[in-house]
Amino acid sequence: MCGIVGYVGSQSALEVVMAGLKRLEYRGYDSAGVAVLADGGLAAAKKAGKLVNLEKELVEKPLPTGSTGIGHTRWATHGGPTDANAHPHLDNAGRVAVVHNGIIENFAVLRGELLERGHELTSETDTEVVAHLLAEEFSATADLAEAMRLVCRRLEGAFTLVAVHADEPDVVVGARRNSPLVVGVGEGEAFLASDVAAFIAHTRSAIELGQDQVVELRRDGVTVTGFDGRPAEVRSYNVDWDAAAAEKGGYDYFMLKEIAEQPKAVSDTLLGRIDAAGNLTLDEVRISASELREMDKVVIVACGTAFHAGMIAKYAIEHWTRIPCEVELASEFRYRDPILDAQTLVIAISQSGETMDTLMALRHAREQGSKVLAICNTNGSTIPRESDAVLYTHAGPEVAVASTKAFLTQLVACYLVALYLGQVRGTKWGDEVRAVIRDLSQIGGAVEQVLQTMEPVRELARSLADKNTVLFLGRHVGYPVALEGALKLKELAYMHAEGFAAGELKHGPIALIDEDLPVVVVVPSPRGRSLLHDKIVSNIQEIRARGARTIVIAEEGDEAVVPYADHLIRIPVTPTLLQPLVATVPLQVFACELATARGNEVDQPRNLAKSVTVE
Ligand code: G6P
Repeated sequence: MCGIVGYVGSQSALEVVMAGLKRLEYRGYDSAGVAVLADGGLAAAKKAGKLVNLEKELVEKPLPTGSTGIGHTRWATHGGPTDANAHPHLDNAGRVAVVHNGIIENFAVLRGELLERGHELTSETDTEVVAHLLAEEFSATADLAEAMRLVCRRLEGAFTLVAVHADEPDVVVGARRNSPLVVGVGEGEAFLASDVAAFIAHTRSAIELGQDQVVELRRDGVTVTGFDGRPAEVRSYNVDWDAAAAEKGGYDYFMLKEIAEQPKAVSDTLLGRIDAAGNLTLDEVRISASELREMDKVVIVACGTAFHAGMIAKYAIEHWTRIPCEVELASEFRYRDPILDAQTLVIAISQSGETMDTLMALRHAREQGSKVLAICNTNGSTIPRESDAVLYTHAGPEVAVASTKAFLTQLVACYLVALYLGQVRGTKWGDEVRAVIRDLSQIGGAVEQVLQTMEPVRELARSLADKNTVLFLGRHVGYPVALEGALKLKELAYMHAEGFAAGELKHGPIALIDEDLPVVVVVPSPRGRSLLHDKIVSNIQEIRARGARTIVIAEEGDEAVVPYADHLIRIPVTPTLLQPLVATVPLQVFACELATARGNEVDQPRNLAKSVTVE
């Protein structure tokens, strides 16, 4: 949520910062702004709307060239998306500029104090107070990093701040509490950004900032201290994401590219986790086997699409390990006083590793003595850093706001954790584990097969572009898939879409069915659990009898559904528990195409942000 970039070096700061913002626009896109230090002064430009508006503004009114600068792309919290509320915010003398991600909870008190001291504040934001406080502290210390430390100690809430001052033209200062901020270290240049995507075109060498730390960036080095001024220990790491991975690579949208990358993402997430004999080796799970054997409950916390991955994981965990598993929306979790102790294994699932609700849930769990295992896609992010162990998904950078490849890799990671638990607890024999691993190894190919057959799905989506509602039904693991299909459609097509457990239909939702209403049904395999299959076939008949238009997703060879399907989408045969890995793909394609047909922005849907760093 909100993208931040800072640069000091010898290139044009404006160019570096604008290119970085482009990469971070997925974090928020209701306004954008930049500030550069040049000719002994500070020049800034900001504009409501997408980055392109700022680009136009910069063409009409160019900024002077300088090699120190900061930039911001915003997802509004305090104050609407106007030019005045856009970042950077400046002090009254126009010497200091600051950009911010997060919420400063005590800003009203600070603002009152500043007004009493004669400051003029011109925006409705919480951020502006920081610019004024920094100006005051800088006039006393003549040291921007020290001014930042002094200001941070007075702030409450979650924040990332990045600032420059015209009197220290070769310095960029950043501060971090709860919200993300990473440092990139180049040759004679340094970068600050909300995530590494902003600077991987320049350097792969990164430094992770911890809680309550201030970083001072100069061309020749980086100094990190705590808010108290003491030198801080930092962790350097090498970014293994390739710069091209964060480009559209010939696709019209990142989402299309990311959907197409799923076979590889799924296979990559298995890499290094299976030994030559086909056994599962999860070295990253640093929670000991004896501790895992002691666990008597698993609790999964996550938000949005990751929550749906968690819902699917529950089926696998309970089936393979016989440990009770709860799945909870991270935003609800800590507020209901959940029952947690050292025998509870908490699994936090997050693509970004920065979702504040999930972070707060895991902190709560750890305070109660539970061990937390993170499933995360972003190296160096906060959630894995604060967890006891982490299993990284290898989806590569996911840029489109609506999650696709990360979801599939989260599922793979969840299956691996479930199998691993079964392995160490002895509820799964080695050959059973190897059999599932073999099935998982083939899923990449199955996803590829689905992708090759999507043209009819796209055509169908286009034909439904004028509908107001689409319903999604599923049973067993198909139920979370139905929820995910509905979420994708809401996010992208701005349509009313709901997912239901098909068995619940008769308890209420069936009243929604009327003539020609599109209803997507995810059908479980007829093999093995045929009871489940028979039941859903009956559900399809019930809705069809009431005039619904049925769009049926069913396994190849499932002939029982044919008479009741107005549209039939075939998916490859997979084991029941793994079916979501293939059944979700047509729903992603469907939502993407329908959104395009309605003229919506696929990669940047209205009001959303990819990484939600406020509660
Ligand atoms: C936001 C995104 C969703 C995502 C959710 C959780 O709401 O728009 O696509 O599923 O956050 O994000 P995380 O990074 O924790 O997986």
